[in-house]
Amino acid sequence: MPITLPPINRRRFVTGTLGGIAALLLRPVWSAEPEIRSQDVWAFLSDTHIPGDRNKTGGTPSINPVEHLIKIRNDILSGETGKPCGLIVSGDCVYQHGLPDDYKTLLEEFTPFRQKGLTVHFVMGNHDNRQAFLNTVAQSTGKNSPQTIPSRLHSIVETSKANFFLLDSLDKTNHTPGLFGEEQLQWLTDELDSRNDKPAILVGHHNPDYSGNIVKASGALQDTTTFFKQIRKRKQVKAYFYGHTHTWKTLRVSGIHMINIPATAWRFDQSQPFAWVLLTLKDNGMSLRLRSIEPEYPKHNEIINLVWR
Ligand SMILES: [Fe+2]
Repeated sequence: MPITLPPINRRRFVTGTLGGIAALLLRPVWSAEPEIRSQDVWAFLSDTHIPGDRNKTGGTPSINPVEHLIKIRNDILSGETGKPCGLIVSGDCVYQHGLPDDYKTLLEEFTPFRQKGLTVHFVMGNHDNRQAFLNTVAQSTGKNSPQTIPSRLHSIVETSKANFFLLDSLDKTNHTPGLFGEEQLQWLTDELDSRNDKPAILVGHHNPDYSGNIVKASGALQDTTTFFKQIRKRKQVKAYFYGHTHTWKTLRVSGIHMINIPATAWRFDQSQPFAWVLLTLKDNGMSLRLRSIEPEYPKHNEIINLVWR
């Protein structure tokens, strides 16, 4: 079960909710078709940490997460960097405890993207709560809350140049370490094996433990060893995107690109940006472009071209 919010079709909204003359009168204003957006272009955000109260701040020095998201939203929707077809938020979508009010604000703040034709995909982080998130999504669409909550929320997004595998490493809300779990890793390997003809890009929240000493890992992915063992030998896996550390970093492990998406909310290291990343898929790789909310940030607009193994 994914947490995916589709674009909002304004024409359908008008004709579905207003009849007769009211719809006809409003149609010229509301009937704009969604813009044409490339399936090869995506916006990656992470650690948005949106609170229910838009005025709430956090971090040291403290910042307002909603204000940061609005700056990023304006940048993405300005079209200056192209027209992504969708957003992927790699976890810690809300403030700290995964509260229903947090998700209400989160969904409201992401609605303008959907009105512009973008699809929004959310990945679970250690500050998320599956039940609260799914219930809030259900309420926002007038549906009943789901009867059962899966142990992990994973999904696949297929595009012409690559398949995205959205993974869930939330173990316990507000508990730092992450875990994909045996069941999800089995699902992942089965799905990868049935899609070995196209590059696979994996997305999760937690950083792998590159030290190899998982027992001593602080807040990293606790099943890094099994995860790496499974993806190394499946050559269609080209990249793993994650957040969690609030750091902008790229490295390569066994030829697989490891992309650490920076936070849009607070940073733990003052040299890190508040930023999002534009991903453009190519035939043999991808390009990444860093977009900081601070234009003076030294790596703002940095472009990194990566080739598939
Ligand atoms: Fe975070």
